[in-house]
Amino acid sequence: MLHDLLRSEDPTEASRLTEAFALDVLMGLSSAPKHIPSKYFYDDIGSRLFERIMGLPEYYLTGCEREVFERQHQRVVEELSGEPLLLVELGPGNGVKTRLLLRALCERSQPFRYVPIDISKSALSALLDSLETAFPGIEAEGIAADYLSGLRWLTRGADTRTVVLFLGSNLGNFSGAESLVFLKSLWNMLKDGDLVLIGFDLRKDLDVMRRAYDDSEGATRDFNLNLLHRINRDLGGDFDVDGFRFYSTFDVHGGSITSYLVSRAEQSAYIEAIGRRFHFGPWEPIRTELSYKYLESDIERLAEETGYTIVARLYDARRYFTDSLWRVCKGE
Ligand SMILES: C[S@@+](CC[C@H](N)C(=O)[O-])C[C@H]1O[C@@H](n2cnc3c(N)ncnc32)[C@H](O)[C@@H]1O
Repeated sequence: MLHDLLRSEDPTEASRLTEAFALDVLMGLSSAPKHIPSKYFYDDIGSRLFERIMGLPEYYLTGCEREVFERQHQRVVEELSGEPLLLVELGPGNGVKTRLLLRALCERSQPFRYVPIDISKSALSALLDSLETAFPGIEAEGIAADYLSGLRWLTRGADTRTVVLFLGSNLGNFSGAESLVFLKSLWNMLKDGDLVLIGFDLRKDLDVMRRAYDDSEGATRDFNLNLLHRINRDLGGDFDVDGFRFYSTFDVHGGSITSYLVSRAEQSAYIEAIGRRFHFGPWEPIRTELSYKYLESDIERLAEETGYTIVARLYDARRYFTDSLWRVCKGE
């Protein structure tokens, strides 16, 4: 079953997602410097492009986290065993790594209900269909929503033991301040003793990180340019997409891969849903994504400042990636 929190109650109105998209584009393109939130990458086309990126040799993140799950899921399963469990996943995509954990829980006969929450309805539907085939009889339902609005809706008044998965270094798409606010909001919605498993992409050789976000096939370029195509499709924009160039770089001081679409010339674009024209100077950038790369000390600090105790630290063999299991701590 799929609960769609992105649809408006009134069928004559634009969906909540389209309204929020228009508002975020208005705010982002009116700011200096210009930006668009990366969560809007994931329409049907963007979600398919991201699946392609996950299969590229340069995009090491998926393989590293899969290795962590293949080799060390027992450590996580030990912590999850016991009373029936509400297993929530924020932004699962195709859930490729989660399946390993679900299989291990099924093999242990651990009772659980799996609830993925994703802003991409197409990714969510495909995931639910594939789970039905792979795990007949599994109790699973999806929520199409932004992370926290989905979780708030799901956990209102619930007293079941809850475990939240936040894999693939999705947290790295937030700025430092946004991460703190997000983790504290999550903490507020959870109960003492609940668990959160977070994937963090660790700092490593600069070229390895850069290539993961600017691959030789151009899939990441297309993924970024799809944002402008999406504005044209969903918001009635008239962007000349070829008039923008994809560029990404690692900011060694700030600690994140930062991706941009850069205007090749002076130009403007009108967006019907906003009723406004936006101007771009020659070589003016629109920031499209931040992908923060963590130092071990960042992870310790984030947990400590937001009220969690770290229960387990799991790594792949090269220590490119870590999955960190945190317990919500509400005691004195
Ligand atoms: C980078 S992909 C990672 C997918 C998966 N976690 C993995 O490790 O392979 C991000 C996923 O999160 C979803 N997503 C991004 N921002 C979101 C938001 N604010 N609320 C809900 N889902 C979001 C996207 O649709 C996509 O499925």
